[in-house]
Amino acid sequence: MFDKTLDRFNYMLYISDRKHEEKEYFMDPKLAVITGASGGIGYELAIQFAKNGYDLVLIARRQKILEQFAHELQQQYKIRVFPITLDLTIPESIETLYQQLKNLNQPVDVLINNAGFGYFSFFPESNINKTMQMLQLNITSLTHLTRLVSKDMLDRNSGKIMNVASTAAFQPGPLMAVYYASKAYVLSFSQALDQELKDTNIHVSALCPGAINAADKYCVI
Ligand SMILES: NC(=O)c1ccc[n+]([C@@H]2O[C@H](COP(=O)([O-])OP(=O)(O)OC[C@H]3O[C@@H](n4cnc5c(N)ncnc54)[C@H](OP(=O)(O)O)[C@@H]3O)[C@@H](O)[C@H]2O)c1
Repeated sequence: MFDKTLDRFNYMLYISDRKHEEKEYFMDPKLAVITGASGGIGYELAIQFAKNGYDLVLIARRQKILEQFAHELQQQYKIRVFPITLDLTIPESIETLYQQLKNLNQPVDVLINNAGFGYFSFFPESNINKTMQMLQLNITSLTHLTRLVSKDMLDRNSGKIMNVASTAAFQPGPLMAVYYASKAYVLSFSQALDQELKDTNIHVSALCPGAINAADKYCVI
């Protein structure tokens, strides 16, 4: 499923690139925005987009790591990379991020809502603050940012959004009940939004990885 969705996403990029091939030769580079890009899946996705010549906006909390990574990508791939340090569990962070995107004066071609986390707990005894932060990051922030960016994409009739769900989206997960439910939301929301936008040139997909050891900064996808 993971491979299939990623293939489909790459295919969408390919088709869109082919469609605009000649025109884009003389145009500005495309811009991809990736949340949770200082490690794991987001880190690897950033490298893939950099290799394909995209300018990048990378968001995470660990400023030093993010800035170092941005610097490396800039040097290696001769692209522009804008690291933005934000904690996306803070509701106001989404408006802050959107304002910073607007300030770039470069439209967002690709949005990847990747930042997310889960944790094991026996729900009645779980840490409610942690649970609420998880819901905020996995669902609310993702939805808010998608709403803001998709409107701009609609105005331009162009764009791609990929939300990182999980194979957890397909069944309930006792002892990770909230995480699994949050990923079911991400998948359902992405599929419905893609359907809503079917007559436009905006494509929405959900990436559904299985368990990956993404503990260190690299993760092969
Ligand atoms: N790994 C898996 O097995 C697996 C399987 C299925 C789905 N997924 C999903 O894939 C996505 C990425 O997972 P991963 O395994 O790559 O995670 P990871 O290795 O823990 O990386 C998470 C990334 O998100 C950032 N992040 C975390 N909390 C944040 C916050 N509050 N605000 C801003 N950025 C934040 C982290 O950077 P900072 O710490 O610097 O903020 C990091 O860059 C998640 O949505 C996860 O649910 C993962």
